[in-house]
Amino acid sequence: MTAKLRETTVHLLGLHESLPYDLLLLADPSREMVDCYVHASDVFVARQNSATVGVIVLQAIAPETVEIKNVAVREELQGHGIGSRLIEHVIQNVVRHKHKRICIGTANSSIGQLYLYQKLGFEISEIRWNYFTNNYAEPIVENGIQAKHMVVLSRLL
Ligand code: ACO
Repeated sequence: MTAKLRETTVHLLGLHESLPYDLLLLADPSREMVDCYVHASDVFVARQNSATVGVIVLQAIAPETVEIKNVAVREELQGHGIGSRLIEHVIQNVVRHKHKRICIGTANSSIGQLYLYQKLGFEISEIRWNYFTNNYAEPIVENGIQAKHMVVLSRLL
């Protein structure tokens, strides 16, 4: 475990604390879309000392299912295990006793994220066809591929 990861703690964001939009917009470029789900979700932040370095947003979408609506880590700290720590933390400490399934959606073009979520035990369970082309005003291109569809991956708890 790196020193950066050892220093990282995870907290539920209080109702009166400001939302870390800089991080939320890294995972979801539309402020309008973020605002549609963030106020009806639980927001957890990863902190190093007092600095916020990551965020994860959870929303119950069915009695047995919770969705990770947004997960992001400050750019210069990516690749040190903080994103995996956030996901495992909410699974083990928050959702495992309340829900039977956790899911996460990402774009067909998000190759690194598709790799990471499968490495963490998520399996592809649904495709939301044309989700990004229908819901986002500007085209999103990653890895030279246009983000058109949402790939939903699920993990049983
Ligand atoms: N490109 C390449 N590889 C990636 C990427 C990427 N964009 N994202 C994750 N990975 C892979 C790495 O190769 C690494 O693999 P390894 O462990 O075998 O070396 C692993 O995933 C990294 O794991 P962590 O260090 O635990 O992840 P990190 O702390 O970087 O957090 C996250 C992952 C949240 C995806 C972060 O990279 C990030 O903030 N990216 C920008 C925002 C984003 O795309 N968020 C997810 C959108 S989907 C949604 O929010 C529901």
